[in-house]
Amino acid sequence: MFTSNTVKLALLKQRAYNLRWATLPDGVIPLTAADSDFPCAEPIQEAVARYAKDGYFSYGPPEGLPELREALAVHYQEIKRVTYLPQYILPVDSAAFGIFLTCQSFLSPGDEAIIFDPVDFLFRYSVEAVGAIAVPFAIPPGTEKVDFSQLEQLVTPQTKMICLCNPLNPTGKVFTPTELLELVAVAEKHNLLILSDEIWSDIVFKPFAYTSVASLNEEARRRTITITGFSKSYGLAGLRIGAILVSNAAHFQKIYHTSLHQSTIHGSNVLGQIAATTALQECRSWLAEFMLHLQVMRDLCVTKLNEIEGFSCIAPQGCYVAFINITGTGMTSADLQKLLLEKAKVAVVPGLAQWFGEGAEGYIRLSFATSAEILEEALFRINKNLL
Ligand SMILES: Cc1ncc(COP(=O)(O)O)c(C=O)c1O
Repeated sequence: MFTSNTVKLALLKQRAYNLRWATLPDGVIPLTAADSDFPCAEPIQEAVARYAKDGYFSYGPPEGLPELREALAVHYQEIKRVTYLPQYILPVDSAAFGIFLTCQSFLSPGDEAIIFDPVDFLFRYSVEAVGAIAVPFAIPPGTEKVDFSQLEQLVTPQTKMICLCNPLNPTGKVFTPTELLELVAVAEKHNLLILSDEIWSDIVFKPFAYTSVASLNEEARRRTITITGFSKSYGLAGLRIGAILVSNAAHFQKIYHTSLHQSTIHGSNVLGQIAATTALQECRSWLAEFMLHLQVMRDLCVTKLNEIEGFSCIAPQGCYVAFINITGTGMTSADLQKLLLEKAKVAVVPGLAQWFGEGAEGYIRLSFATSAEILEEALFRINKNLL
């Protein structure tokens, strides 16, 4: 299922944007945005086609399709061990929008939110977009045990929220219950909300295990706004679908009113919701197969990258990205990215502050959600052109 035959390059060249195939010159292999090269699972293809064939695309309910809210509640109960009532789950048009909407709902200009460093740019972007201040908490790549009690030093009277990204893109760190309990203790002591972005929570490699922060105890569940999405696990990025899950009516009402869904100005489209429902209800075995493939790709990637002079790569515990320390090459991440693009014809993401924060310099990020053939070719080209 996850061979080079299933990767349809001609279609990717037409349809895969966001720094990927459709945006790059022919011959360049994009290991950039974390977006799978494989088509989505067949049950999703069929469900979307069936719905489309009926020819009706009427307005859906502003609070989301009941079947998706129910499927998310079941998924969170069975897999993540958190009780979320369907009426407190809001499907939104992507995890990215979920992060922004949570910031918009709970932060005012001048408020502070703690974000990790390095971390995906969406956190800083969303916090700043609503006029709040993003305060970075350093988690250097390779940190074995994060001491979240240190977060307390960053808390001021303006602090309102801790933004948790677990697993952590780009370093692939998966947080343990002990680490998360320390984070919750700080949040509790200072009455802070926890924004928990769990879009990567299905992509965790053995022997590591995922813990949803809200599953730890009732106090954690009460103050957590959970955000999830379907772009990473199920390859549905272009359908722009995600969800926000909360524990109580007050949080739900705040988010729902801020979302403008009730006015139809915003809302998640029905096809995305049909696809997401099918993913949760019918695609667990597909996801298990995908994970088996990713585990092999991760190992291949880490082995080959560590053979390259000047590169050093720790195996990610989660996420399908490798975050490579390139300081041994003597180059900046921007110069190396340029060299790889021009000489090796491989596109990667440089560790620039604009993508991941200040703590990312000296690193490049590479996505490995592709076939073994494409990945081997890319790694071969990188190695050959750095010699
Ligand atoms: C940590 C994290 N959150 C959110 C997103 C965005 O997901 P979506 O496509 O659902 O907006 C990404 C995508 O790279 C991500 O890495």
